[in-house]
Amino acid sequence: MDQHGIAFVNEIKKAITDSAFVKLALGNYKGTEEGLKQLYVKPVLIKNKQLLAFNYRYKTRDIFKNFEIEEGLSLIKEYLAGDFNVATLFSTNEEVILERSAKGSFRLRTKQLEEKKEANLSHNKEKKRLILAKDNLYLHELGLTDEQGTVFKNAQDKYKQINQYIEILSSLIKELPQGTIKNVVDMGSGKGYLTFALYDYLLSHQQKANVVGVEFRKDMVDLCNSIAAKANFDQLSFVEGTIDNYENDKINLLIALHACDTATDDAIYKGIKANAELIVVAPCCHKQIRREIEKNKAQNDLNFLTKHGIFLERQAEMVTDGLRALILEYFGYKTKVFEFVSDVHTPKNVLVVGIRNKEQGARSKDEILQKIKDTKAYFGISYHHLERLLEL
Ligand SMILES: C[S@@+](CC[C@H](N)C(=O)[O-])C[C@H]1O[C@@H](n2cnc3c(N)ncnc32)[C@H](O)[C@@H]1O
Repeated sequence: MDQHGIAFVNEIKKAITDSAFVKLALGNYKGTEEGLKQLYVKPVLIKNKQLLAFNYRYKTRDIFKNFEIEEGLSLIKEYLAGDFNVATLFSTNEEVILERSAKGSFRLRTKQLEEKKEANLSHNKEKKRLILAKDNLYLHELGLTDEQGTVFKNAQDKYKQINQYIEILSSLIKELPQGTIKNVVDMGSGKGYLTFALYDYLLSHQQKANVVGVEFRKDMVDLCNSIAAKANFDQLSFVEGTIDNYENDKINLLIALHACDTATDDAIYKGIKANAELIVVAPCCHKQIRREIEKNKAQNDLNFLTKHGIFLERQAEMVTDGLRALILEYFGYKTKVFEFVSDVHTPKNVLVVGIRNKEQGARSKDEILQKIKDTKAYFGISYHHLERLLEL
């Protein structure tokens, strides 16, 4: 970086030290990360420690990560030296703008503010949410808020997760023709936090849809049905039963969040069979493939990693979900796999998304099938539950 770049980073450091740092915005991204548009950095206070909150804004999603100040600053330096071409530092009394010219040199400008801004370190600041806590009967009944609609301290993470998930789903739904989502099924709906929130979102933002939660725990089903009645959510219902026994051939959107192990495969299977437009799953515990890998002990270049249990576990997760994505592609879905909420809030944070694709993808069905076969052989997997269900 040249002297202007260095001066800009020093301005950020100074603003942080003087408690004058409001926000940093990096834009005009020209790098290779697909869909990345901007990066916003704000100061946050978490457990009395000041951190930098990074919000990576992609075309269809946001990713949030918190960093220690030093680590955050070195990332910012890296990004400025790399692929972001404009950066604006908003401090309490000025805006400092760094722009890279076509020739690669930086230009630095400063704009004094007429009115002093406030630096806000509060992490719990009420941000504009798609699911509001105030006057929200179901969030209260589910035990996330008090009588006044204030989210309990110990429910903040859950509330945040619900909102991030609705933000992601709303942008995925917007990719479909308007009015597509008429029938929604949530497989393994549990206490129904996300089922209620999705129904609420569809009702107020898009259209009324039939939403069904499928859950084998009767106590949860009864609780959710009684709350749905109290909230007058007349097209939201919960049914008791297992995912594999649930029959419905009219599904536009299928979700399964944290359905254990092969229950996620059962859910994807039901979505594919119903020809759902959108399938969104957040897998959890990947035991079936881990057992296969452990049992068959394939010799491959990755053995130096997988002799360590934690890497074996991570590999099993990636291979399971990678094969799920391939199988979705085989059945004509465009797939995306991404982190949907910072792992500060939950370690189960990967979403596998399939969007039904009218056009044939880049790879032919034969190529995909071959890739599935090769992957299984490489990792020593004799079968994958979803593949078996679909009789591939
Ligand atoms: C970890 S909880 C997640 C609940 C909810 N989806 C969420 O993310 O908040 C998983 C739920 O799926 C249910 N479940 C797991 N396997 C199932 C199956 N095969 N059929 C029906 N329900 C299942 C469990 O009883 C549990 O309530």
